[in-house]
Amino acid sequence: MLKVLFASSEVVPFAKTGGLADVSGTLPVALKSLGCDVRVIMPFYKMVEKTAPERKLLAERIEIPIGRKIYLGDVWETNLEPSIPVYLVQCDEFFDRGQLYGTAKGDYRDNAERFIFFSRCALELCIKTEFAPDIIHCHDWQTGLIPAYIKSIYRDLPQFAKTRTVFTIHNIAYQGLFEKEVFQLTGLPADYFNVNGLEYWGKMCILKAALMFSDIITTVSKKYSEEIQTSEFGYGMEGILMSRKDDLYGILNGVDYAEWNPEADKYIAAHYSSSALTRKQKCKEDLLNEYKLPAKLRTKPLLGVISRLADQKGFDLLAQIMDKLMSLDIGFVLLGTGEQKYHDLFETIGRKFPDKVGIRIGYDNTLAHKIEAGCDMFLMPSRYEPCGLNQIYSLKYGTVPIVRATGGLDDTISDYDERKGTGTGFKFEKYSSKELLHTIKRALALYEKKKDWQKLMLDCMACDFSWEQSAQQYMELYRKAIKKVIRQKGEEVKR
Ligand code: ADP
Ligand code: GLC
Repeated sequence: MLKVLFASSEVVPFAKTGGLADVSGTLPVALKSLGCDVRVIMPFYKMVEKTAPERKLLAERIEIPIGRKIYLGDVWETNLEPSIPVYLVQCDEFFDRGQLYGTAKGDYRDNAERFIFFSRCALELCIKTEFAPDIIHCHDWQTGLIPAYIKSIYRDLPQFAKTRTVFTIHNIAYQGLFEKEVFQLTGLPADYFNVNGLEYWGKMCILKAALMFSDIITTVSKKYSEEIQTSEFGYGMEGILMSRKDDLYGILNGVDYAEWNPEADKYIAAHYSSSALTRKQKCKEDLLNEYKLPAKLRTKPLLGVISRLADQKGFDLLAQIMDKLMSLDIGFVLLGTGEQKYHDLFETIGRKFPDKVGIRIGYDNTLAHKIEAGCDMFLMPSRYEPCGLNQIYSLKYGTVPIVRATGGLDDTISDYDERKGTGTGFKFEKYSSKELLHTIKRALALYEKKKDWQKLMLDCMACDFSWEQSAQQYMELYRKAIKKVIRQKGEEVKR
């Protein structure tokens, strides 16, 4: 049986800021059903006290050197399903905090130490529990040192003699970039701080470590795997990615329809399906109540957004057209949290149009489900979008996505063709507010043709993005990684 350690900084239902958590909590389940021995490891943040009430202590006082200091980690075990262990790495000094990575003001200052600690602790736990993984599947920069450790200070340990690393890029703009002095905290050999290692324009880049030293690199859609090899989307990593293009794969994320499905959603006012579509209206009314918006919006098109409020998501486009948009006969609701400038922006818009706009700044899973169910259209005008999950959830809820043709948005949504009546949403290419407004207007025009709109909703709801196929693709890559002849530091090592 293939043994996989799945290392991620966020995992549903234990801790989440975005889609990484959804993937980390659901892909392991699909891998398990394909016969993998998969074990997940994540940090024990403050909220985990509540989200993982049933847990047992697995290992105590694991010693992790960070620079000259030794930190102690305890590891707790809980599970995703009875047969998928989830290891929770505890070190209160690093993880007993309100947020995962930082506040609206900025990142926590010791994020390097925090994730050096987490990454090494994952490997030390394998040693302590005598778990010899075939694959360590790492996600985003927070786990990006693991491939470098496996190829250096842990390479001669029998535990890792056969271990291969797969690294998934969920967002290339988050790179784990630190001052060069931080490098000595990693414990990596000094010669790893060079142009073929972690050094990046005089700084230390953990993402670069992952891209240089993992055996296989994946990202979360085919289109994004191509985009990140260009200077527009690569955020400086395009050269490395081009040089590793034979090891780079795009595998589209799947979603968990047990959690995101209007037929069984435990958070929404009424269950509905393609054969009982009219009950969606109840969800709309409930959502309007939730936002204290007037009842007259019940018959108007309602547009929704659920998002981290970051530059990536394209809200500068939305801001530019908000006045024009609000001159139309529509409603708009938003749920999001992130950068302060967007909090201010949307709160101002909310105050300006109190009868049409509902703004909720914060993180609220229940409200997220209510928005998916209660809106008619869902907006994702992203500047870039590695995969995007909300447009996929929206499809299942018959909430028609309006997206920019980038990354996973492009791969999952096909543009509506007004002549043929085909498609699963509305899509625009150019990053411009004019295009966005034009595309929203196309959607609003179709909304008036009730029959056509309903057919579009049904076509959306019929889409299937469950995990099976993508999990199969990961399994194939794991096998490929295992067979791989490893090239390191100029030598060929056959295993
Ligand atoms: P990203 O990972 O870039 O944030 P995705 O579309 O992949 O974007 O995933 C976002 C996930 O986070 C979805 O499950 C979405 O519902 C959820 N989410 C984002 N912001 C919030 C919020 N403010 N409250 C509740 N859920 C949120
Ligand atoms: C990232 C991306 C998002 C993707 C998610 C899960 O947060 O921004 O597009 O869906 O990871 O892979």
